[in-house]
Amino acid sequence: MDNRYKDIVELMKDTRKISEEDLAYVLESGGESEREYLFEAARNAADQVFHKEIYLRGLIEFTNYCRNNCYYCGIRCGNSNAERYRLTEEEILSCCDIGDKIGFKTFVLQGGEDPYFTDDRICELVRKIKAAHPSCAVTLSIGEKSYESYKKFYDAGADRYLLRHETANEEHYSMLHPENMSGAERKQCLFDLKDIGFQVGCGIMIGTQGQTMKHIYEDIVFMQKLEPHMIGIGPFIPHKDTPFRDEPEGSVEITLRLLSVLRLLFPKVLLPATTALGTADSLGREKGILAGANVMMPNLSPSGVRKKYLLYDGKICTGEEAAECNQCLRRRVERIGYHVAESRGDHPDFK
Ligand code: 5AD
Ligand code: FES
Repeated sequence: MDNRYKDIVELMKDTRKISEEDLAYVLESGGESEREYLFEAARNAADQVFHKEIYLRGLIEFTNYCRNNCYYCGIRCGNSNAERYRLTEEEILSCCDIGDKIGFKTFVLQGGEDPYFTDDRICELVRKIKAAHPSCAVTLSIGEKSYESYKKFYDAGADRYLLRHETANEEHYSMLHPENMSGAERKQCLFDLKDIGFQVGCGIMIGTQGQTMKHIYEDIVFMQKLEPHMIGIGPFIPHKDTPFRDEPEGSVEITLRLLSVLRLLFPKVLLPATTALGTADSLGREKGILAGANVMMPNLSPSGVRKKYLLYDGKICTGEEAAECNQCLRRRVERIGYHVAESRGDHPDFK
C-alpha cells in the first residue's frame, strides 16, 4: 500500500480539501489496493449520510430539438441526421403517471434548448405534473435561461435544476462549444439557480478533448464555490455525427476515482451513477455506487423516442420500456447490497 496515496485519502476525509498535485496523484497513480482504499473510503462516507439508500429519478427526454451546436453532442442543431421529435403535453404527463405507478418520486424533464417550449409552456407543464403528483419532485434540465425564466419555473413549482457546467476552464469550454456560447454565462446560470432556491446540479464529462488534470482541479475549485446539491459526471463517449466522432472515449477508471473524490469532498452531495458510465462499462453504474454514487436515473421516455435522444453512440436502455429499466435497476442495486429509497431523495439540507 502506497502511503502517500493513503495519506491523501485521509486528508480529503478530514479536511474536505485537495491540492492540484494530490488530485492528479489520486486520479492517476496507485494500483488495485490504492483504488480500493479510495473507493471504500468514499463508500463509507456515502453510507454514513445515505445509509445504503439509492435514489431513482425518472428521466423524461421530452425534446431533442436544440438551438445549440456543442461539438460533443449528438443532438446538436448541426446534426441533420438526428430525427427530431418533441413529446406532447399528454405524452409527458402520461410518462409521469407511469413513473408514479412504478415508484418514482422525481421526474426529470430533460431536453435540448427547444424554442417551442416557451417559459409559459414549461410552467404549465410543471404545474400540471405537480398537481397530478403532489408528493413528487420535478427537476428541469433544459439549459441556459435568464434569471427571470428560472424564477418563473421555480414559482410554477419546479424543485431542482440540472445544468452541467461541462468545464470550469473557459479556454477549455471554448474548445467544446461554438463561439456563441460562453463558460462564464453558463456558470452565472448556476449561481442564479441557486439564488432562486433550486436544488442545483452541475457537472462535467471526463475525457473531453483537451481536458487535463488542471481542468478537473479547476472544476473542483468551482464546485467548492458553487456548493451544488448534485454533481453529474460521466465519461465522454463519441457520437458519429459530431466533430468529435474520432475522439477517444473518456476513462471509466478516472470517472470512478473522481466520483470517490467528490464524495469525500462533498459528503452530502447527490451523485448519480450516470447512463454514460453504464454505457462505457456494462457494470459501470454498479461500480459508480461502490465508488460513492447514490443516485440512478432510469429512462422514463416513451420507448418509441429513446433511440432519437442519442447524445452519444451506443447509449443503453434505448430498447427497453420504463418498467423494464425500473426492474433492472432495482435488481442491480440490490445485488450489490443497496436498496432503492421510498422518499423523494432531496439533498439532506433540503429536508
Ligand atoms: N458523451 C457523454 N456525455 C455527453 N453529454 C452530451 N454529449 C455527451 C457525450 N458525447 C452530457 C453533457 C450534457 C449532458 C446532458 O450529457 O455533459 O450536459
Ligand atoms: Fe434500462 Fe437496465 S436500466 S435495461
